[in-house]
Amino acid sequence: MSIVAWSDEYTVEIQEIDEQHKRLIGIINKLYEALAAKKDRDQIATVLNELVEYTKVHFEVEETLMRIFNYEEYDAHKEIHDRIVAQVLDFQGKFNAGDDSVGMELLMFLKEWLFDHINKVDKRYTRHFQKHGAKKTWLRKFW
Ligand SMILES: [Fe+2]
Repeated sequence: MSIVAWSDEYTVEIQEIDEQHKRLIGIINKLYEALAAKKDRDQIATVLNELVEYTKVHFEVEETLMRIFNYEEYDAHKEIHDRIVAQVLDFQGKFNAGDDSVGMELLMFLKEWLFDHINKVDKRYTRHFQKHGAKKTWLRKFW
């Protein structure tokens, strides 16, 4: 059961980053399954935590690449990331405070955000990253 699905139209043409986006999709679907199956709060909280942590990791990777490659849109992109993390943390805070209704609301937010962000914001760095040596494809599967 899934709420979001990967499609090649979302590729940023750098495999490492595509794989990370796919992993995010996987965690979003895991959260959806946990909520739909009405799993206990602890289990949902665990997935929510995984989502928060992996989102931070993924954003940090992108931001690090932007700094290494002197990407001129760094500040604007970083600001968007910070806003998304703040919003996800806000949802998590409400859930942890006992508000169960935030789960599905969060999923809708993530669904909207992820593909919109990939298409409108992430894809802007592709040319710059590739021009500075980022490889399109992996040599092998690393994780
Ligand atoms: Fe991004």
